[in-house]
Amino acid sequence: MSERPPVEIDVTTPNVARMYDFYLGGKDNYAADREATEQVLRVAPQTPALARANRAFLGRAVRFLVREAGMRQFLDLGAGLPTQGNVHEVAQGAAPASRCVYVDNDPVVLTHGRALLKGVGGVEVVPGDLRRPSELLDDPLLRKAIDLSEPVAVLLVSVLHCLTDQEDPWEVVRVLGEAVPSGSHLVVSHITAAERPAAAQAGAAVYQRASSAMTLRPGEAIARFFDGFELLDPGLVPLTDWRPEPSGPQRGLPAWFLCGVARKP
Ligand SMILES: C[S@@+](CC[C@H](N)C(=O)[O-])C[C@H]1O[C@@H](n2cnc3c(N)ncnc32)[C@H](O)[C@@H]1O
Repeated sequence: MSERPPVEIDVTTPNVARMYDFYLGGKDNYAADREATEQVLRVAPQTPALARANRAFLGRAVRFLVREAGMRQFLDLGAGLPTQGNVHEVAQGAAPASRCVYVDNDPVVLTHGRALLKGVGGVEVVPGDLRRPSELLDDPLLRKAIDLSEPVAVLLVSVLHCLTDQEDPWEVVRVLGEAVPSGSHLVVSHITAAERPAAAQAGAAVYQRASSAMTLRPGEAIARFFDGFELLDPGLVPLTDWRPEPSGPQRGLPAWFLCGVARKP
């Protein structure tokens, strides 16, 4: 990316979306992002492999939702910078009529998303902050693309840990879950520190000075995001254990993420 960004973009604060994109091999990052990611890599060198495993989980979950759960509407919250295997590509690859709304609160994500997805049928990119879920759901473009009276797949992949306990992400998920009808699905992946906690915590500590801090949560706290939903097999598991495919990502990564897919009864 050019080192001369649009004025409204803060390039001096490491940014979670751009750092994550850097782990995935993307080019949309600045010096502050790279410096922070290098710090993370020194204490937690497995981070890029985990980012790839997270994307692979997202892909498997979306394919499952289209093929086996009949989902045709996807609400990807905290969607991140466009990368390979974006939700609409996976969903429309399996069912061309699928619709997808990408929501993020980061101006770089929104600018790139809009530029890249302009004219792509069934896709919208809208600004929204998870900390204000009702406002987010009222967005006119979102409402045009997604019919909230029909089942929706709500994707909260690698984003709820960007919210602090004080911001009450459980209440956020409750509001989102209440807005969608029976038969809707919830997909969550979230950072935890069950294994080698010192390295996980040292990596997360770098984010204290980033655009969002990272809150590592124990499995029980992550499981509570699924209250009111039925967790589908295999339950809340490390990324590579969720319905692995033969060509899937490498196994043997530290269990620094837990993930699951659930259905609203
Ligand atoms: C680690 S990336 C995850 C991207 C994608 N969901 C994935 O798993 O590949 C987290 C994304 O969440 C966004 N984000 C963080 N806090 C947010 C908030 N309060 N509201 C909306 N988006 C947020 C960031 O801008 C970033 O794009």
